[in-house]
Amino acid sequence: MKTTFGPQKVMFPCPTGLVVTGTMENANIVTIAWISLLTSSPPTIGISVGSRGFSGNEIRKNGEFTVNIASFDIMVEADFCGITSGRDRDKFRETGLTKMESKIVKSPIIKECPLNLECVLVESGTFGSTNHFAGKIIETHIDTDKLRDSGDYTSFDIAAINPLIYIGGAREYRKIGEKAGDAYNIGKKLLNQED
Ligand SMILES: Cc1cc2nc3c(=O)[nH]c(=O)nc-3n(C[C@H](O)[C@H](O)[C@H](O)COP(=O)(O)O)c2cc1C
Repeated sequence: MKTTFGPQKVMFPCPTGLVVTGTMENANIVTIAWISLLTSSPPTIGISVGSRGFSGNEIRKNGEFTVNIASFDIMVEADFCGITSGRDRDKFRETGLTKMESKIVKSPIIKECPLNLECVLVESGTFGSTNHFAGKIIETHIDTDKLRDSGDYTSFDIAAINPLIYIGGAREYRKIGEKAGDAYNIGKKLLNQED
């Protein structure tokens, strides 16, 4: 049996992203869980940013931003950046998170986040009260100590990265679980069953 609730904003699991806007001298961090890759060629990420906060206008104004994936180790800092505004706080100073120069964009990346994406705004729109920003990923940073093979970005050890998972609806954070199977592969078990 199922029950229904009409239209609701519930989605799980979500990454806990820390989006940085501005420059090394004047940067802000906003916690964003509504994140998705939009296309692989060129690699492009979409983020949904409410229009009441400080960050939406900053992204429009600057045309660039970074997406930094939070690890479980910075859960408190990540939550803080989602309940305070850059309008009246310096979130880098108050969290103690460390700014690092990006390679290409002016907005810094966050040292404590194991995965950092430098993005250039390529498209934006509005749904209801939410801005939608599509950012072309122009550089990808991963902590070298989380890679099994330093020349292969897909060789990351997800347990070592320990991403902070957000459960929308229940509003709780979770840790990543154990590996359950090989994607794009395990389903092959059902191929040729009826041949
Ligand atoms: C776990 C978590 C996830 C969030 N996800 C989003 C999101 O996807 N989009 C959004 O606009 N706000 C999201 N928020 C709320 C913003 O982070 C919050 O409104 C923040 O104070 C805005 O900061 P700013 O004014 O510095 O931009 C989230 C907050 C938390 C705690």
